[in-house]
Amino acid sequence: MTKALISTHGLRKTYGKRNNKFDALRGITIDINKGETVAIVGKSGSGKSTLMHLLALLDKPTKGEITLDSQPTAKLKARRLNAIRNKEFGFVFQSFFMNSNDTVLNNVILPLKIAGVSSRERRRRAIAALKTVELDDKRNNKANNLSGGQKQRVCIARAIVNDPKVIFADEPTGNLDSATGEKIISLLFRLNREKGITLIIVTHDLELANKCERQINIKDGHIVSDSTTDTELSDNVDDDTDNWEDEEADTQKFAGDNNIDGMLDHQPHITHIDIDKEEEE
Ligand SMILES: Nc1ncnc2c1ncn2[C@@H]1O[C@H](COP(=O)(O)OP(=O)(O)O)[C@@H](O)[C@H]1O
Ligand SMILES: [Mg+2]
Repeated sequence: MTKALISTHGLRKTYGKRNNKFDALRGITIDINKGETVAIVGKSGSGKSTLMHLLALLDKPTKGEITLDSQPTAKLKARRLNAIRNKEFGFVFQSFFMNSNDTVLNNVILPLKIAGVSSRERRRRAIAALKTVELDDKRNNKANNLSGGQKQRVCIARAIVNDPKVIFADEPTGNLDSATGEKIISLLFRLNREKGITLIIVTHDLELANKCERQINIKDGHIVSDSTTDTELSDNVDDDTDNWEDEEADTQKFAGDNNIDGMLDHQPHITHIDIDKEEEE
């Protein structure tokens, strides 16, 4: 049996207090294995981003446990969590902005700087990551002057520059035309095949979801189906467990909800950097 890379048990997340309480996740138990490609799908507001933030240790559950490599994470100190996110995870979030006034190269270098990699080595690695996403020739451009698809590729370069175990992507193709979206997708899957990076992707995009080995369908904070276990977890839900593919029309309509504004509202501080304190060479 393979040991899970990330395991959750009975995850619950409640936002707000008293009258404003909202249960965004209502008991999520899953194992994600090393090297898997996992799509988290479901309607807008179903809890996908919330689950992703918890899996990525960007936020704490109200109840339940998350283990990473069989280690419980609840009691880890902020410093250790930052180090884990920096070294083991890569993020491709639309709301995870680049520093648009800085160069492409400096944006990709950032995680290495945080990790304390020497300046020569970080330059070498950042250029290699930019080559992977075929943006090496733009390294000295201001990030601001790139197209949407190019920015997304810079995000991917930054996500892989530390050789992460897992890439978390929240709607990675959300704002892209379909041709560009396809390029981003094939890039992510190539990283999975060639480097064994686990992909956890929140998406409304059926084609992207179907490319993943595994689809986890979330509805009202519950898992209603998981293609790996192939269980209809009907005891978890009070109403119908309809196939999420039928919801495409619905989700398309709401696709705009799942955007930067919505994310920013509850976006934890992902970077956790104190750049000012960084020693400039
Ligand atoms: N910080 C927050 N405060 C209150 N409610 C929130 C917060 N973040 C998310 N929610 C609510 O939790 C539910 C799930 O949100 P989210 O995980 O972003 O859904 P999805 O990514 O599936 O669209 C939504 O109803 C949303 O309004
Ligand atoms: Mg979302």
